[in-house]
Amino acid sequence: MSKLFDPLNFTRGPAQKNRFMLAPLTNTQSYKDGTLSDDEYNWLTMRAKGGFGAVMTCASHVQAAGQGFPGQLGIFSDDHLPGLTRLAADIRQEGSLAIAQLHHAGMRSPQKLIGVAPLCPSADEKTGAREMTTGEVEDLIADFVAAAKRAEQAGFDGVEVHGAHGYILCQFLSPDINRRDDKYGGSLNNRARAIYEVVAGIRENCRDDFNVSVRLSPERFGMRLSEVTAVAQKLMSDGAIDFLDMSLWDVRKEPEEDAHKGRNLMSYFTELDRGKVRLGVAGKIYDAETANWCLDEGCDFVLLGRGAILHHDFPDLVRDDSTFRAVQLPVTAEYLRGQGLGDNFLEYMSSWEGFVAG
Ligand SMILES: Cc1cc2nc3c(=O)[nH]c(=O)nc-3n(C[C@H](O)[C@H](O)[C@H](O)COP(=O)(O)O)c2cc1C
Repeated sequence: MSKLFDPLNFTRGPAQKNRFMLAPLTNTQSYKDGTLSDDEYNWLTMRAKGGFGAVMTCASHVQAAGQGFPGQLGIFSDDHLPGLTRLAADIRQEGSLAIAQLHHAGMRSPQKLIGVAPLCPSADEKTGAREMTTGEVEDLIADFVAAAKRAEQAGFDGVEVHGAHGYILCQFLSPDINRRDDKYGGSLNNRARAIYEVVAGIRENCRDDFNVSVRLSPERFGMRLSEVTAVAQKLMSDGAIDFLDMSLWDVRKEPEEDAHKGRNLMSYFTELDRGKVRLGVAGKIYDAETANWCLDEGCDFVLLGRGAILHHDFPDLVRDDSTFRAVQLPVTAEYLRGQGLGDNFLEYMSSWEGFVAG
């Protein structure tokens, strides 16, 4: 039997019943004020019913001005609590862990959407983003922690801090974007400080068995592989997080940086000394073979994005067929409706090339 169905325990909180986690997926199905809709509830609880050991929400913004997408789930106000509470309860009801992803888009918040100039570690002409004061950075960190408290109050098992994909914490990490000269800019330790302080703040303020994780991505937006592995190692050595989620976009790819080519990107993370911190990876896992290969390469679990959009019950299908592979892309809108996508999510997926037919 594949290791994919072995339970996975974490330093804190309940174990995950198998090695499948739903990757955070923006689905643009929330109401304008960030409250949960039935479409978003159905999309996520259907994945819990389909056998995912953990179900993560989409990126949920911790400040109104951190919104990155229309229809994004909010976690910046107590008004979001009723929806979040219903969601967490019903994911957990299925025996799946409920995890909320905490996000702030920073300079990637469309000005038209948030109505003010977006925030950024340093000013950016192209997006019209303005540099945050040191006080605003401290407020941002406090708002990540407040959002984690809200997730805890709503009954989630844990939160993931979104430090990937060029959003605000990644903007701090990026030497290309962050030109600050206070304690949040300059050295790698200073650029990573916002992430470390968010994690420490959540640890201090949330219950002892709250599962806390970080998502990083090692490429684009000014990321240097050597810096991202150093941050990953520090997070693992500190042991304040329960898992690290590496968003690789393709688990089999090699690094873009010439100096690091010759082996796969994933191996730079599996080789770190992770202690009790668990390691998960995401990127084009569309079949049982690739999911198993990730575990064989030393990962603890896999995160499925598009594969989980295509099959709400991907884990159950793999359990029943060890050679399972996802349907060929593109698929029809009707097919995706059958997998629990509402109209807004369908429209959003049409913007992903080659996904929806027609
Ligand atoms: C439609 C869509 C929405 C996404 N939204 C998020 C998000 O909210 N937060 C995040 O960290 N990553 C997001 N991602 C990235 C996925 O979590 C995942 O890392 C990536 O898609 C690679 O996995 P896959 O090849 O299995 O889709 C998104 C990806 C897709 C396709």
